[in-house]
Amino acid sequence: MKIAVAGTGYVGLVTGVVFAELGNEVICVDIDPAKVDAINKGQSPIYEPGLDELLQRNLEEERLIATTDLAQATRDCEVIFICVGTPPTETGEPDLKYVDAAAATIGRALNGYKIIVNKSTVPIGTGDRVRRIIEQHRAEPHDFDVVSNPEFLREGSAVADTLNPDRIVIGADNPRAAMKIVELYAPLERPMLITNLATAEIIKYASNTFLALKISFINAIADLCERTGADVVQTAKAMGYDPRIGQAFLQAGLGFGGSCFPKDVQAFVHTVQRYGLDPTLFEQILVINDARPKQFVARIRERLGELSGRTIALLGLAFKPNTDDIREARSLEIIRFLLQEGATVRAYDPVAMPRVQAIYPQITYCRNAYEAAENADALALITEWNEFRQLNFERIRNAMRQPNLFDGRNLYDPQRMRKLGFYYYGVGRAADNSDDKTML
Ligand code: UDX
Repeated sequence: MKIAVAGTGYVGLVTGVVFAELGNEVICVDIDPAKVDAINKGQSPIYEPGLDELLQRNLEEERLIATTDLAQATRDCEVIFICVGTPPTETGEPDLKYVDAAAATIGRALNGYKIIVNKSTVPIGTGDRVRRIIEQHRAEPHDFDVVSNPEFLREGSAVADTLNPDRIVIGADNPRAAMKIVELYAPLERPMLITNLATAEIIKYASNTFLALKISFINAIADLCERTGADVVQTAKAMGYDPRIGQAFLQAGLGFGGSCFPKDVQAFVHTVQRYGLDPTLFEQILVINDARPKQFVARIRERLGELSGRTIALLGLAFKPNTDDIREARSLEIIRFLLQEGATVRAYDPVAMPRVQAIYPQITYCRNAYEAAENADALALITEWNEFRQLNFERIRNAMRQPNLFDGRNLYDPQRMRKLGFYYYGVGRAADNSDDKTML
C-alpha cells in the first residue's frame, strides 16, 4: 500500500518506518526541511532504540522517503496518516492548528478516494472536524473517509510498542475504510478492535487518563503512608497481586511528566466540561500530580533546616529513563523551587543535560553521579536511570558534605542505605528501619 504520514515526531516517524518495514511504500512528510533532510540521510531527528537501523534499511530498500510536500504525498497515496503535533494552548486545550492545516492541504489535493487517519492524540470530535475541513477545501467532489487510529506507544520503546502493540484500535464510520486499515495492520497479528470514530477517540483518552489516575492514586496513598508509618512500596505490591488491580503503574514518587499524560488529562478535563459533565475526578489527578515536586523539596528543607546556601545534587533530569525528553519533567519544577530558595544545584543525567542547560544555565552540570555528589548536603534521585541502581554508595557518601539521600522514585532499599550511613527518605516509605519487618 502507498501511505503518507504527515508529521515526523515520535508517533509519525515511528509509524512511517514500521509501515515501511511491513513492506508498504511510505512518504513521510514534515513542514521542517531540516528534519526531512535528516530523515532522507538516514538520521532520525529523535532518539528511539532501533529506529535508526529501521530507517536506514527502509531508505536503502526504497520503501521510505521524506518530503515537505504534503499535497503531492496526498495525490500519490490512498491512505494518509495525520501525526502532527497538538501542543497545549494557554488554557491547556490542545492546539489543533497543525491538524487543521494538514486537513486543508489534504482536502485541496484530493484526486480520488482517500482514507485520512487521525493518529495524533486529538480531542474527541476532531475526526468530524477533519472531515468538515476536507469537505470545505476539496476542489473536486472526491470521496474520502476519516478514521481514528490512536497510538499507544511509549517513548523509549516506541519501535517495539508499534511492532507489538497490546491492541490496535480502528474507529471508522464506514466499514470499507476500517477494513483497509485492518489490512495494513494484519501482518502484526495483534488484537484489533473496530469501532466508530467517537469511541476510538474516547479509548485513547480514557486509557491515558486511567494510567495517570493509577499514578496519582498511589501517590495519594504514599502521603497517607508517610503520616501513618506505613510503606507504599509494599502496599502497592500487595494491591497489585489482585489481577483486577495489577502491578503496573503503581510506583509512587514524583509523579508523571512527559508530553502525553499531563496534556492528555488536561484536555480530557476540558472535554468532560464541554459536554456539561463533572470533571472533579479527573481534575484531582492533576492536582495530586502537580503537588509532588513541591512536597519533595519540602522534605529536603525539613531535613536541612533551610535551603539557602545548601548544595543539592540531582540524579536524573529526563521525564523518565531512556529518553532525553524533558517535557513536563519533574526535575524542572524541582530545580525551580530549589533555586527560588537559594540552594546551589548540581546535576547529572546521562543524556538530558544539554536540554536542561538551555533552561537553567545557572546550575552545575556534572560528568557523573559521583561528581554531582561532591560537597552536596543532599542527593536527590529524580529519574530512575539504570546506571543509578548500581552506584558505589560508599564513594557517594564520602564525597558528600552530609549523607542525605532523597529517593524520588523509591529506587533504593531503605535499610541498605541507612546501614551505609545515609539519612534516607523515600516517597511514602516509613521514616525508620521498621518498614522492612514485613516480608512480602
Ligand atoms: C505514555 C503512555 O504510556 C503511552 O501509552 C501513551 O501513548 C503516551 O503516554 P510516555 O509519556 O512515553 O507514554 O511515558 P510512560 O512510560 O507511560 O511514563 C509517564 C510518566 O509516568 C513518567 O514521568 C513516569 O516517571 C511516570 N510514572 C509511570 C510514575 O510516576 N509511576 C508509575 O508507576 C509509572
